[in-house]
Amino acid sequence: MSTTPSVDRSAEASTETCAKPEVRGFFDARTWTWTYVVYDPATKDAVIIDPVLDFDPANGRTWTESADLVVQFVEAQGLRVHLQLETHAHADHLSGSQHLKAKLGAGVAIGADITAVQKVFAPVFNLGPDFALDGSQFDHLIHDGEELQLGSLRIQGIATPGHTPACMSLLIGDALFSGDALFLPDVGVGRCDFPAGSAQTLYASVHGKLYNLPATTRVFVGHDYPPTGRVALAETTVAESKAHNVHLRESSTQDEFVAFRTGRDKGLAAPRLLLPSIQVNIDAGRLPKPEANGKSYLKIPLR
Ligand SMILES: [Fe+2]
Repeated sequence: MSTTPSVDRSAEASTETCAKPEVRGFFDARTWTWTYVVYDPATKDAVIIDPVLDFDPANGRTWTESADLVVQFVEAQGLRVHLQLETHAHADHLSGSQHLKAKLGAGVAIGADITAVQKVFAPVFNLGPDFALDGSQFDHLIHDGEELQLGSLRIQGIATPGHTPACMSLLIGDALFSGDALFLPDVGVGRCDFPAGSAQTLYASVHGKLYNLPATTRVFVGHDYPPTGRVALAETTVAESKAHNVHLRESSTQDEFVAFRTGRDKGLAAPRLLLPSIQVNIDAGRLPKPEANGKSYLKIPLR
């Protein structure tokens, strides 16, 4: 993965770095997912974070309404999308990244520890020797602390494992995209009971890393599950999270958090789209190869 042909670095020589990028969120009410377009209005440099492919598991239908809203926005603003970034291998929605790659030409990046997720789930779906376990399905693997200069956007990867081993938060100027590591203060943080998830690790990621960012850092979350009476929101700050997050505050000790998180996770059902999502998303959002009759099939391992 040392060469990354789909990452457009043609503007790497730019001396201007956007300190406060514009962020446009698109909320998918079916899966409670936020997709973001992050862009510099002056230079039109842009990235897309966590795109969604619409999917109805009852009849197997996929469609691209959500991703096409993103395309329309990108085109209306005249943005140049350099890269798509997945904060992790999502277990609750199919990624729309391959549709957007075809439409916009931007490759797909994910945290380098996606290889750990692939090693766990390839045998679950019996994907066989043709399925690579090295992350090569993606156009770029982001390492902890890595910085990408994409035009005027400077993107720093901050590994925030715990929800999954591959979770990568992304800092772009003053905006942090926290994926499922950190939600809005009244929602909390992501669950830690997926394979290779860890409440201890998530505590270290959030308390030990994200809470050390400047207090005014804007935080854009991967999902919102609004309590009754409020609309879906996308944004908080590091200061608000440290003071008010219902699961993990600055004052929370590791023991308190781990006891809370592991206890709560025992009562959570598996996400509705877990099995379809994971088998598609560890293959960078590609749907399974068509069989001899031209149709693709998802696998559901029976237990
Ligand atoms: Fe997730």
